Amino acid sequence: MAQKKGLASAPVRGRRVLVRVDFNVPQEPNGQVADDRRIVEALPTLNHLRAAGARTILMSHLGRPEGHHDPRFSLRPVVHRLSAILGQPVPLADDIIGVHALEQTARLQNGQFLMLENLRFHPGEEANDPAFAAQLAHLGELFVEDAFGTVHRAHASTVGVPQRVPAFAGLLVERELRELSKLIEDPPQPYVVLLGGAKVADKLPFLASFCGRARTIAIGGALAFPFLRAQGHDLGASLAEPGLEKAADEFLHRAEAAGTELLFPVDLVVERPGVVGAETHPVSAIPRDASACDIGPETRARFAARIDGSKTVFWNGPLGRAEDSRFRAGTREVLSRLGSVAGYHVAAGGDSARIAHDLGVTESFQFISTGGGAALEFVQGLSLPGLAVLPDA
Ligand code: ADP
Ligand code: 3PG
Ligand code: MG
Repeated sequence: MAQKKGLASAPVRGRRVLVRVDFNVPQEPNGQVADDRRIVEALPTLNHLRAAGARTILMSHLGRPEGHHDPRFSLRPVVHRLSAILGQPVPLADDIIGVHALEQTARLQNGQFLMLENLRFHPGEEANDPAFAAQLAHLGELFVEDAFGTVHRAHASTVGVPQRVPAFAGLLVERELRELSKLIEDPPQPYVVLLGGAKVADKLPFLASFCGRARTIAIGGALAFPFLRAQGHDLGASLAEPGLEKAADEFLHRAEAAGTELLFPVDLVVERPGVVGAETHPVSAIPRDASACDIGPETRARFAARIDGSKTVFWNGPLGRAEDSRFRAGTREVLSRLGSVAGYHVAAGGDSARIAHDLGVTESFQFISTGGGAALEFVQGLSLPGLAVLPDA
């Protein structure tokens, strides 16, 4: 892909610079930031802007509050952590595009920061509503895209704003494009793609272009369930998202036509109401009241065998509910094989990055992307709206 006009060429001194960041971080049940990687990864851009004398207005979403003000999704814990990391206070503008936000942005001094409250509290963000985008754009004079994790979304802050003010790619976005591009053109074979996670409806329709690129695609996590159900397995009370049959079918056909090997779970670790601990069952015999939460030992061995023979690995999505120690072994056993295999290994996704860190396997990856869905689409060579809108260098 062509290089984007970068932050280094942006005349930021004394200017109000709108920066889209992806501070959609994993949170503890009490709201505290559970993993600050996405904040830390934005620091090169934020430090550059501070040193260059910009007046920085940060914009992000957190979770999916669906257009309503919901205090559970407030960015307050995030600005708290950000202020500590930057060593300077970052105030939060509660009203996003209101008079108060306008006043606060007007008062900013060179080198200062302001963060707008969760953009998704406003229905105009996800709808890319022109009036909302214009009001956001009005708060700044320049735009910097550093939210790599959100460039697959055509929202007001990722597309509407850069259509209205001069736009530049931030340092994190530039780094992501540089690293992930290595997976687009002729990655060394065998290239193994390992997928899991729970954003099934989001991800399943965007997997087909892996077929033909990857030698093997191994799918665990809740993402495997629509495929297992399509094979006729009854998965009891496991997570179910209706309406994905067609997308699953299309993917299976593409893989067959391209000669791409697909691996799905053959056994699953389940939890059952009233049963302490976990049980393992073959996919053909999942009890009616059971929820599948991890891949079983036979599946782990099959996935790991493909990792052993690989030269390139792309991983997105935990293979089970790995936050829970009862359901971590699948992800742990498969990822731990990477340590003894040489090759280019990329992990992608907010939750995946956190799990890699918790399992102590980050050293096995040459690159850990801050994007989940965004990285998944980018490495398949798909066009992402938040990148397409940025001017080329
Ligand atoms: P990423 O953020 O890395 O892109 P996702 O957001 O798609 O990944 O998915 C991460 C979530 O998937 C984790 O919270 C994990 O608990 C959940 N998950 C994985 N496997 C299952 C499963 N079998 N059932 C329910 N949730 C699962
Ligand atoms: C992510 O975590 O993948 C990004 O922040 C995008 O979030 P979304 O899937 O809710 O748009
Ligand atoms: Mg996630």
